[in-house]
Amino acid sequence: MIRVADIPDLRRQVSGWRAQGLRTALVPTMGNLHAGHLALVRSARELAGRVVVSIFVNPLQFGPSEDFAAYPRTLERDAEQLAALGADLLFVPTVDGMYPRGQADHTRVEVPGLSDILCGASRPGHFVGVATVVCKLLNLVQPDLALFGEKDFQQLLVIRRMVEDLCLPVAIHGLPTVREADGLAMSSRNVYLQPAERALAPGLYRALLRAAERLSGGAAVVEVEAQGYAELAAGGLEPEYLSVRRACDLGPPGAEDLDLVVLAAARLGRARLIDNCRVRLDD
Ligand code: PAF
Repeated sequence: MIRVADIPDLRRQVSGWRAQGLRTALVPTMGNLHAGHLALVRSARELAGRVVVSIFVNPLQFGPSEDFAAYPRTLERDAEQLAALGADLLFVPTVDGMYPRGQADHTRVEVPGLSDILCGASRPGHFVGVATVVCKLLNLVQPDLALFGEKDFQQLLVIRRMVEDLCLPVAIHGLPTVREADGLAMSSRNVYLQPAERALAPGLYRALLRAAERLSGGAAVVEVEAQGYAELAAGGLEPEYLSVRRACDLGPPGAEDLDLVVLAAARLGRARLIDNCRVRLDD
């Protein structure tokens, strides 16, 4: 596996592959890789001739009081795992390399509406930071496809919308959430959980599953949301939201909408956990 930090080196390498007609996949990450990331890389390996993984803890998507400095950085262990899976290139840019004029003066990509609700409401600017860095990574690598986890469901929709609106020539693949045996969605931030919090954390997914069951049983959205929120609080989490939305655009569902998603965010000690559960009412 080639490791590259500089943009000109990356461009040289990927344009060489393009000239050979090789199909390239990009897996953008912030590192501290877990089984969810590795599943993306395995899938990329099956779908493309060359696999690029980026590891960049992107300061632009962190708020001033968020965990940018503390975000777990485990580059050497990540690189070993990626090499073992057969990734071809690991791109590890620096903050100055990505934002040479500084973050404040860098051009931004905004997906309005979708970026301001749910997680966007409590993390202003977060999805602008995500869309900007993903747009830049897509332009640098120019992959045929890019892969993201469905755990970050809102992020996936923001990226899909950006790609569609800006006519970026890339296929976006969303892969199912990978979970621990007790249902907790894998996340780099799970390392923040103290043992007692770790024991409570699967309550988030359990509440989502119960909400999904109630919806399938015909319960009203407002009741499902209120019950789910109360269950999270009763389970020792500090819920931020538990919300039922249309899966296609995260709008409020009407009676005619059958493809729904229940999304939740909750705090548990230092960790902010998010998860979601898809509900298809026509099944
Ligand atoms: O999901 C992540 O790890 C990040 O938000 C991403 C997509 C790599 C952009 O920094």
